Amino acid sequence: MRLHDKHGRNITDLRVSITDRCNYKCVYCRTGNEGALYSELPFADYLRMVRVFVDLGIEKVRLTGGEPLLRNGLVDFVRQLSGLRTLDGQELDIAITTNGHLLTELVQPLKAAGLRRATISMDAVDAEKFARITRVPNGYESVLAGIRAAKRAGLEPVKVNCVLLRGFNEDQIVEFARFSREEGVVVRFIEFMPLEEDRVWSPNVVVAMDEILEQLNTFRPVRQLPNAPSETARRYTFDDGKGEIGIIAPVSHPFCGHCSRVRLTSDGKIRTCLFSLLDHDMAGKMHGGATDSELADYVRSVVQQKEARHHIGEAGFIKPSRSMVHIGG
Ligand code: 5AD
Repeated sequence: MRLHDKHGRNITDLRVSITDRCNYKCVYCRTGNEGALYSELPFADYLRMVRVFVDLGIEKVRLTGGEPLLRNGLVDFVRQLSGLRTLDGQELDIAITTNGHLLTELVQPLKAAGLRRATISMDAVDAEKFARITRVPNGYESVLAGIRAAKRAGLEPVKVNCVLLRGFNEDQIVEFARFSREEGVVVRFIEFMPLEEDRVWSPNVVVAMDEILEQLNTFRPVRQLPNAPSETARRYTFDDGKGEIGIIAPVSHPFCGHCSRVRLTSDGKIRTCLFSLLDHDMAGKMHGGATDSELADYVRSVVQQKEARHHIGEAGFIKPSRSMVHIGG
């Protein structure tokens, strides 16, 4: 029986955080002064857990962090993952979300090991604004090189994620539209969600979908493209068909009803929603001696409890028990 939850959603997409360390301190994610976090498991542990998930119908695995490229041994791990087969005997769709800082060096070996796609986070196409958001000097050039290297390596489509924050980068919308057209990458604007360590989220900081579309239309008329139902982004291009923009609008236009995702944190806990108030200790069960079939039963029972939806912006919203850097994007 393939994984599904009690709301009738099929779960086919697993995101695995392989570290909660990050070399950036983005203002919308980390506190500026926090030291390194460390909760990582050996790759063999993630591999076994992923295998259990795949045997229950997972078809896509996205590696995240923290910053996943900080982990030594990542290339071998990707090679091992690429040996797994879905229930239909297909290769897994293996993707990564990275800040791109170390990507130039690693992208070729990762591709050769079986990585199919890469999403790179970049919140400004301006070196100074980029540094202000990431709180790291001189990152912009490395990330830009990483994006271009991913493109050259054929990890298509290369997607660039931009979290919009009022007062930081809402003036970058049109710049990113140009960037998408010039670089041949998909740029995805993400509405800021309350998942940060510092409590800076407020509805006023969110740059919402309608405003993004309005800005884009001042540049060139946009036209919507078709989407798959479980896709988080609404897709757009311009009147001449050049460039692609995605808008991920979990705050103004939630897509929980089509959610196909579960997450495994770097310390091996299952999270059924970014906004869950608790997580489920799969690694604990595994280290306690559970067999694969006991782990599979556990995963099934946890997934059954997946929340119907998030409650961002509603009275009584409770911030999740862990922030993005711990959960994985
Ligand atoms: N709201 C929206 N997006 C976020 N990301 C990280 N924190 C947040 C947040 N609070 C983005 C990252 C990355 C992706 C995994 O999620 O920039 O691109």
